[in-house]
Amino acid sequence: MNIIIMGLPGAGKGTQAAKIIKKHSIPHISTGDMFRLAIKNETDLGKQAKAFMDQGELVPDEVTVGIVKERLSQSDAKGGFLLDGFPRTIEQAEALNKIMEDLGSQIDQTINIDVPEEELMNRLTGRRICETCGATYHLVFNPPKEEGICNLDGGKLYQREDDNPDTVANRLEVNIKQTTPLLNFYKELGVLSTVDGSKDIDEVFEEIDEILNDL
Ligand code: AP5
Ligand code: ZN
Repeated sequence: MNIIIMGLPGAGKGTQAAKIIKKHSIPHISTGDMFRLAIKNETDLGKQAKAFMDQGELVPDEVTVGIVKERLSQSDAKGGFLLDGFPRTIEQAEALNKIMEDLGSQIDQTINIDVPEEELMNRLTGRRICETCGATYHLVFNPPKEEGICNLDGGKLYQREDDNPDTVANRLEVNIKQTTPLLNFYKELGVLSTVDGSKDIDEVFEEIDEILNDL
């Protein structure tokens, strides 16, 4: 099962991805996570990506397509994968189609999580992440049992650098521009489903689960 999870920043892609990969045992391929790891490890890729991410801009297509191509050719992606945060432009979507064709495969479903724009700022500025396991929380919508501490492993929670109000505003603006053409691209391919992402986390997952069970 080759799936894409799509949605504006804060729509809940990472939150739902964690549930999907647990149930379907497929790798979670998040371009944002790959860039953040590269920045942490101070690699050349990290140096290239950092300036764009700090501003809430997109990392150039050639860089992003390159890392996805390499990742999808690894053996653990052969039995299916969940792509999160990629593609984000028509150029990336076209490049992905070509990569899949070269691999003798195709995208089976694109799940678009739809959330009204006005909810996204709150979701992102209230987000907290476990520094040990990467689990995602929200100060109001999904708080940890103990303040600042991960429920799963006791790890400390931190705030992502690009979750400040100024950078969030730019991330939203940049991504909104790309959304309609990208959704149309997958609609025309006949592999687009949209779920109502304004419901609570478990309800959104139920909706996604039904779509995936029908594949
Ligand atoms: P990336 O890491 O992909 O960030 P993003 O798209 O901005 O998305 P987020 O991770 O912020 O949000 P999410 O939808 O995963 O939401 P989450 O589940 O955490 O990209 C970061 C940067 O990397 C980009 O800005 C760009 O620079 C670069 N980049 C990455 N991919 C690229 C590409 N393809 N091309 C070019 N550049 C690229 O949820 C958010 C919060 O809401 C959490 O606190 C959560 O607990 C809460 N929440 C989730 N669901 C619900 C719900 N149903 N109800 C209430 N609260 C909820
Ligand atoms: Zn944790």
